[in-house]
Amino acid sequence: MKNKFQDLRKRFPQIVFMEEKGEFYLDSAATALKIDVGIEVLRQFYETNVSNVHRGEHNLSLKATEKYEKAREKIAHFLNAEFNEIVFTRNTTESLNLLAHSLGSFLQEGDEILVTQMEHHSNFLPWQVLAQKKGLKLKVAPVTSSALLDLNLFEQLLNPKTKIVSLTHVSNVTGVLNPLDEISSLIRKKTSAYFILDAAQSVSCQNLNVKKINCDFLVFSSHKIFAPSGIGVLYGKKKLLEKLPPYQVGGGMITDVSETKSEWAKIPYKFEAGTPFIEGVIALGEVLSFLRKELDFKELLKWEQNLVFQAENLLSQIPGLRFIGCKKNRTNILSFVIEGVHSSDLAFILAKEKLALRAGHHCCIPLMKALCLNSGTLRASFSLYNREEEIYKLKRSLDTALSILL
Ligand code: ALA
Repeated sequence: MKNKFQDLRKRFPQIVFMEEKGEFYLDSAATALKIDVGIEVLRQFYETNVSNVHRGEHNLSLKATEKYEKAREKIAHFLNAEFNEIVFTRNTTESLNLLAHSLGSFLQEGDEILVTQMEHHSNFLPWQVLAQKKGLKLKVAPVTSSALLDLNLFEQLLNPKTKIVSLTHVSNVTGVLNPLDEISSLIRKKTSAYFILDAAQSVSCQNLNVKKINCDFLVFSSHKIFAPSGIGVLYGKKKLLEKLPPYQVGGGMITDVSETKSEWAKIPYKFEAGTPFIEGVIALGEVLSFLRKELDFKELLKWEQNLVFQAENLLSQIPGLRFIGCKKNRTNILSFVIEGVHSSDLAFILAKEKLALRAGHHCCIPLMKALCLNSGTLRASFSLYNREEEIYKLKRSLDTALSILL
């Protein structure tokens, strides 16, 4: 297993570049490094196939359109969805704003939306704004002191008035994996709510299968799975997408326009106004096909969890260091605080030591408040290209940082 990931590691040009400079990347939760398969697609497109999609009869455009729609097919296959259930947006944030806008149009005063305290702002603010605008009730399911979703309280917050439940699969702060089977059966048992899964953090460490998860919508960003940034994927059940009004209007999403009235194109095109990030979508399709062929995400997660486990053992030697989240449910992220030190000061010194980590609130201020983490956390996130030696480097650099700060 080790050799397999070490072989794949060589396919990330930035790893080779950073290695030569003695730099280490432990920030894949912020964005993952890019694999050569996707980079090659971008290069080829820019050198041989620049043209728009769905708008031209010339060969270049026909070829680009074919590749673009083939990529949609590959992405649908990756999620076990149908071709027309895949909508391209800019990122997870835009997908969730789309849902808040379009699903929100079905909701009425007094209806309830349920999220959790562990949501990224992108899965919190669209619902908060919608609730304020339409007189809805936004309920927030709390986490325990170990940063796990409190399932009892979650269940108590579900009722027939709950119209939307939107939650993250894996926390981008703690790496905690939510128990989807249990959550989805609670939602189905107690409500007829739309179930939205934010898979931004889980897409790189879980085998996602929308039929098995039985969610109504699922969203993720291309940049977290070794492909270009600037593409979001929104999966929606066909019947629901057909019912939803578009979020943005403009070129490419109509069948007819008159001065007084217009008709929207069929799904998924009615949600894709404007020229998309064509080459990025094609690259994402290639990357996902490659990953499906080359690796099992369960194996990958085991590899990453092993790195996290080793990091946890080594870093626990540091006095005053406290890990956030629960060991048992952790995926590929290790978040921690050190008593008496601000996480941003640590990240600053670690950067001088050539280590890239993220510090702060990680766009999850409600979670920080719930766990009383006033100076945020320091977060190391691992991916298939990370190695054991980087954990030792992290420990040495933290020792150096603490000798300066304390
Ligand atoms: N959501 C990304 C992170 O956790 C940007 O850093």
